[in-house]
Amino acid sequence: MILIKSIKEIDCIRESCKIVAETLQLIKRYAKVNVTTLELDKIAEDYILSNSAIPAFKGYSQGGSVVYPATLCTSINEEVVHGIPGNRVLKDGDILSVDVGVNKKGYFGDAALSIAIGNITEDNRKLLEVTEKSLYLGIEQASINNKIGDISNAIQSYVEGNGFSVVRALCGHGVGKKLHEEPQIPNYGEKSKGPVLKNGMTLAIEPMVNMGSYRVTFSDDGWTVLTEDNLPSAHFEHSIAIINGSAEILTQI
Ligand code: MF3
Ligand code: CO
Repeated sequence: MILIKSIKEIDCIRESCKIVAETLQLIKRYAKVNVTTLELDKIAEDYILSNSAIPAFKGYSQGGSVVYPATLCTSINEEVVHGIPGNRVLKDGDILSVDVGVNKKGYFGDAALSIAIGNITEDNRKLLEVTEKSLYLGIEQASINNKIGDISNAIQSYVEGNGFSVVRALCGHGVGKKLHEEPQIPNYGEKSKGPVLKNGMTLAIEPMVNMGSYRVTFSDDGWTVLTEDNLPSAHFEHSIAIINGSAEILTQI
């Protein structure tokens, strides 16, 4: 069942989403050559806790799987998503996806962005640009009486039109009263298919875009998702609410 939120509930979700957006901006400032992903995680966790909120990923597990141990997901180059922060040092030319979720008073926000570390290749620059633009094209389709497939199709068409591929093994999702709610939002699919969008829906749209094949593998750490061909991948995500017929981005500063 897709939950419809009241204006009051959306106000609460908006508050969590604001902390998410601020955390991402903070991490963007600190994500530089020679910094470790664990240092970034500490900065994010401190910021969230100082805002009377809780990191939503830490302690999360899906059906008996390994408990997620950190505040951020930090995924470098061929890591697609769910990379676990650690002692790895960021290097010139890396692309880093940072994903963060916040729970404040039982309401959830979730967003991600990918960051260029130092000077990146022209191919990586285009990968970041196309992935971010595909997110906004998806969001544009998140309007009343459209369908989930309209979001999916807008993302897939733009990404593939630019010579990249969309990951199929993972999807966007409803968000708000829980981190992951119905519906699933695939980043590929056909127009006019799937559930109808309505006012009061709150959704996390998150294209994961690969330079090469869309296929992924799963690391034995229980979390990190990797590209099968070891080519780089990028990820951008916003939480949005459908209000007065169209999408309001809740995780934008
Ligand atoms: N934005 C990611 C997702 O929706 C983050 C999940 S990390 C987890 O899949 F640890 F919470 F699973
Ligand atoms: Co998400």
